[in-house]
Amino acid sequence: MVYSYERMATLRYLTAGESHGKALIGILEGIPSGLSLSPEDINRDLGRRQMGYGRGGRMKIESDHAEILSGVRWGKTIGSPITLLIENKDFKNWLKGMSPYAEDENSIPPVTKPRPGHADLTGAIKYGHHDIRNVLERSSARETAMRVALGAVAKKFLQTFHITIGSFVIQIGKISVKGLKDQGAKGSSESSRTLESLFKKAEKSPVRCPDDEAAKKMINLIDRAIKSGDSLGGIFEVFATGLPVGLGSYIQSDRRLDGRLAQALMGIQAIKGVEAGLGFEMSKRSGSEVMDEIFYSASYGFHRKTNNAGGIEGGMTDGMPIILRAAMKPIPTLRRPLRSINIRTKKPVEAAYERSDICAVPAAGVIGEAMVALTIADAFLEKFGGDSMKEIQINYDSYVHHIKQF
Ligand SMILES: Cc1cc2nc3c(=O)[nH]c(=O)nc-3n(C[C@H](O)[C@H](O)[C@H](O)COP(=O)(O)O)c2cc1C
Repeated sequence: MVYSYERMATLRYLTAGESHGKALIGILEGIPSGLSLSPEDINRDLGRRQMGYGRGGRMKIESDHAEILSGVRWGKTIGSPITLLIENKDFKNWLKGMSPYAEDENSIPPVTKPRPGHADLTGAIKYGHHDIRNVLERSSARETAMRVALGAVAKKFLQTFHITIGSFVIQIGKISVKGLKDQGAKGSSESSRTLESLFKKAEKSPVRCPDDEAAKKMINLIDRAIKSGDSLGGIFEVFATGLPVGLGSYIQSDRRLDGRLAQALMGIQAIKGVEAGLGFEMSKRSGSEVMDEIFYSASYGFHRKTNNAGGIEGGMTDGMPIILRAAMKPIPTLRRPLRSINIRTKKPVEAAYERSDICAVPAAGVIGEAMVALTIADAFLEKFGGDSMKEIQINYDSYVHHIKQF
């Protein structure tokens, strides 16, 4: 993430594109040369983002594919910015409605009924738009398709260093998986294995939930919401395993990895809360119950038997898996619309309705993985520097040697 007066990100990205525009574009700068990369590495995650029980009709129209426009030659990154393009297949129906040309103005009716829970009203006031389409086209979570694509590149980079990122759903509406917080908070290697096996199970579930019983109840709840014209939110957990000690820093607030990860997850549309490790639960327990005590053995070196901190202490990775949770609010566009006011007539109306998801928590988890991957890759590049994969590998190996010697 780039803050003009703060820490300069080593890995930077920008996305552009409207929901019904011609395409989404993303530029990722900072990936070193020599990383093997193919569109398939990216398309796998684009497909995962489109799945999940409770999605709306659009997912059936679109089947996202990324095209690599720059930064990769003959299957390998060359160190220059990577540009990705995802075509919006629906654009053919919006040629005039989303046209850049003045002569096409008013070819479709304006959107004048702001939806509560969206950027619609505030965005229209802020940018001076009298057609809310100018707001909703960009504020829509469609943009996250590109973030998932860029995140897939970051994941591919991290995989080289045996860092794995995954996610699963632990709550939809009031249905939650019990006891997962404690499962994630066991000893280090056991915890990695647990997280990775929960992830594998979740990948087979329509709601991306690793607990079959809870998943069944979640599906029933979504069915009820579909029938009643309502919507649902929930909580997903994202994890990263295989991390070295010391990514991020306690030196300045903007270098703290927990803060950077929280921003990355809160930056996803509809995310209203983020926790690390035991999170809010930690505040209810006493100090002796929640701190991860320190042990040493010749074979494991310094290690912990618990991971209540969620893999981050003092704004730095502590060598345990990173465990984060993000809470998503229910989808705001409802088939049984909410009350609103027409921005032109100022008269009460029902909020605008366009084909919409009922529950998108499973997809949000995949977006969470992308955001976490981009943030960790940034911190990794900051720590190990280097312009080529070879150089980074040397720096990484030397640090691993330092850890062993410490
Ligand atoms: C993957 C995903 C899919 C979403 N799909 C929809 C949708 O179909 N309809 C809708 O109204 N909101 C949808 N949302 C939620 C809106 O994007 C979100 O509520 C809106 O941006 C306002 O949230 P904010 O106040 O956090 O910015 C989706 C969000 C995500 C992350």
